Amino acid sequence: MKSSRIPGFYNMSVEQRRELLKKELGFSSEELSDLYINEPLSIDTADKMIENVIGTFQLPLGLGLNFLINGKEYVIPMAIEEASVVASASHIAKIVRSSGGFRTEATERVMIGQIQVVGCPDFQTAKRAVLNEKEALINAANAAYPSIVNRGGGAQDMEVRILNEESDSKYGQMLVLHIYVDTCDAMGANIINTMVESIAPIVEELTKGKVYLRILSNYADKCLARARCVIPPGMLATGDYSGEHVRDGVIHAYEFAASDPYRAVTHNKGIMNGIDPVVIATGNDWRAVEAGAHAYASRHGSYGSMTTWSKDNDGNLVGEIELPMSIGTVGGATRVHPMAKLSLSMMNIESAKELAQVIVAVGLAQNLGALKALATDGIQKGHMALHSRSVAIAAGASGEMIDIIAEKLIELKQIRVGKAKELVEQYKK
Ligand code: MEV
Repeated sequence: MKSSRIPGFYNMSVEQRRELLKKELGFSSEELSDLYINEPLSIDTADKMIENVIGTFQLPLGLGLNFLINGKEYVIPMAIEEASVVASASHIAKIVRSSGGFRTEATERVMIGQIQVVGCPDFQTAKRAVLNEKEALINAANAAYPSIVNRGGGAQDMEVRILNEESDSKYGQMLVLHIYVDTCDAMGANIINTMVESIAPIVEELTKGKVYLRILSNYADKCLARARCVIPPGMLATGDYSGEHVRDGVIHAYEFAASDPYRAVTHNKGIMNGIDPVVIATGNDWRAVEAGAHAYASRHGSYGSMTTWSKDNDGNLVGEIELPMSIGTVGGATRVHPMAKLSLSMMNIESAKELAQVIVAVGLAQNLGALKALATDGIQKGHMALHSRSVAIAAGASGEMIDIIAEKLIELKQIRVGKAKELVEQYKK
């Protein structure tokens, strides 16, 4: 990838954009062939993926542009139905790249499996019995899924907790075993579920209790990804608003979200506007990512912001995000859905760790896009501008005509294809 900065991409036709991907970014016709097929996910494949299939369901796939992450260029496929999201992410990525790009990092990819044991005659004795056999249990878990060990991962550690020990607890006492598994490039649900199911009988024997649940935890707080950006205020100036105004507005917006769950939910929804489309485009389980992200936003005891925004000593705006990211680049739909395969290759992603970092960088960009708009003109102006542009394009406008027609539609307060067609005809005369 030469550069993810492609001026004028939004003004091109879909066909021109595809051609550009081939010519400028080095994708072959073969690599992009699925973009041209009406039904890239065939009914046959869909029928093997889930039950009771009667069809497939499509979403627009747009490209988030301008992303520079740890010095690497990314064009980022985003599958989403909501207008403005892709434009806003690309707009912020353009600003951030001018100040050095996003810096990201990720922890090891350790996912958690849980085993629930109830009815132990003595919970402390049961806990000791399990911990005494820790090594044997880890080995048994790995024996149940040897291929992950061969790939350099596997079960590594174990912890045991006793829940509801207090005598006045509303709920029954239980012992919960956590097994920590490095799932490498897989999201890991199958690996972990196989492991916990296979060692459950040993756990039952050791604890003299009864095992009920054996399942992966989607609270993947040992599989985190982080992104950071630092932006000089001058780069944030927009219209009549100074960069300092925008910076301070973003920080006030963050403080609002950090102190009020009513705002935090919307603030975080805006972050997931960036995260989900990449998770979906790469064939990953967005419900797992959503559940983990929202739980992580509550880790300090109340629901808060998934990002932080502050000012450094030089007056720069500093944005940070840290989230659990239970995604994969192998297994599941990532290698079955043709568009997921294409999305991963477009980003030139080499590992799940790398994908996780790209995803949180998009989330951070999306958040800043929303907060910058909210702290200045509000979001409707941008929405209307974009909407009127797509109406102009749908009415047949191209090149410089698009902006002229779009502006006229806004001025007339008639953002309709019919009106746009009239204006296109007038313009041509
Ligand atoms: C709309 O999809 C997302 C926003 O509401 C996010 C936010 O308020 O921060 C604009």
